[in-house]
Amino acid sequence: MTVTARSFAKINLGLYIGPLRPDGYHDLRTVYQTIALHDVLRVSVGKGSGIEIYCADPRVPCDESNTCYRVAEQVMDVLRAKGKVTIEIEKRLPVQGGLGAASSNAVATLIALERALKKPLSQPARLRIAAEVGSDLPMFLVGGTVLGVGRGEEVYPLPNLPATPVVAVTPDAGVSTPKAFADWDQLTHSEASDRLMEVGRVLSAWLGSPNTGAPARGRSRAGSPLLDLVRTGIENDFEKVVFPQYPDLRDIKGALERAGALYASLSGSGSTLYGLFSTRAAAARAVGRLQKQGLRAVATVTLTRQQYWKKSLVASR
Ligand code: C5P
Repeated sequence: MTVTARSFAKINLGLYIGPLRPDGYHDLRTVYQTIALHDVLRVSVGKGSGIEIYCADPRVPCDESNTCYRVAEQVMDVLRAKGKVTIEIEKRLPVQGGLGAASSNAVATLIALERALKKPLSQPARLRIAAEVGSDLPMFLVGGTVLGVGRGEEVYPLPNLPATPVVAVTPDAGVSTPKAFADWDQLTHSEASDRLMEVGRVLSAWLGSPNTGAPARGRSRAGSPLLDLVRTGIENDFEKVVFPQYPDLRDIKGALERAGALYASLSGSGSTLYGLFSTRAAAARAVGRLQKQGLRAVATVTLTRQQYWKKSLVASR
C-alpha cells in the first residue's frame, strides 16, 4: 500500500534564544504556525527490508542522514514491523529555508508509515521519536498554532487562530541553523536569559488578552488574534545574526513591509521571510509587486490545527 501525505511548512511567530545548555542546545521560546505550502510524500512498505529514499532534488540527502530515514527506522523498530520502506519526496519547499521542511517530511513519514502498516503508535511514542530525531519535529505532531519551549521540542497547542493570508519569499541561498546558533553565542553571552524573560511577558500578556481565541463575529481579519500577537512586538532573534551576514534578507523584509505586510519576519534561522496580510487580495497584490522586483514570492495562508490534519493525509492505495 502507498500512502500519500502532504508535508506542510511552518513559520515562526517570534523566536527568542536563551543560553547555551550543557547538552549543546539552546533553550528557546517560539510560536510555530503551520502554513499551506507543502511537499508531497509517498510512503510504502513492500517485501524485503531496508529503507530507500527517492528525491529528484540533489540537495536532499537520500541516505541515513535524512530525517525521514531516521524516523522510519525508529517506527519500524518500535512497531516491530518487517518490510522494505520506500519514501518518495516531491520537493516543493526550500531546503535550509527556515520553514521546517525536513522536520515536516520526517513527521509525514511517521504518520504515513503508521497508516501503511495499519499499526498506530501511541502519542507519547510519536512525540518521543520526533523529539529524538530533531527539535523542530514535535510541533508537526500538533499543527496549527503551537508554543515551542525547551530546545523547541516541548510543544503545547495554543488557541486556534483564524486563517491569515501569508506571503513567503524564498531567496536562493539557504542558512545553516547550527551555524546561526553558534553566531548567536558569539553575539550575546550574558543577555540570553533576559530574552526568555521578555518573551514570557509578551506571551502571557497576549494569552491573557480578551482577543485571544476565536474571533468575534464580524470582526475583520485585521483584528485577528494572530495579528494581535505579532503586534505585541515579538521578534526573531536570528535576524540579529543572519541579517548582518545576508544583507539581502534584511532588504527582502523591508520589501515585504513596503508591499503592505502588517508584520514581516525571518522564519526560523531563514532564509525564508514571510509577511502577514489582512486579506488575500492584499497578499496577491504584494506577490505581484515582489515578483516584479525579481523575488521568488508566493501567497499562502496559515492552517488551523483542524485544517492541518484534514489535509495531511491525501490518499492510500
Ligand atoms: O535538533 P536539531 O537536530 O534540529 O538541531 C540541529 C542543531 O541546531 C543542533 O545540533 C544544535 O547545534 C542547534 N540547535 C541549538 N538549539 C536548539 C535547536 C538546535 O543549538 N534549540
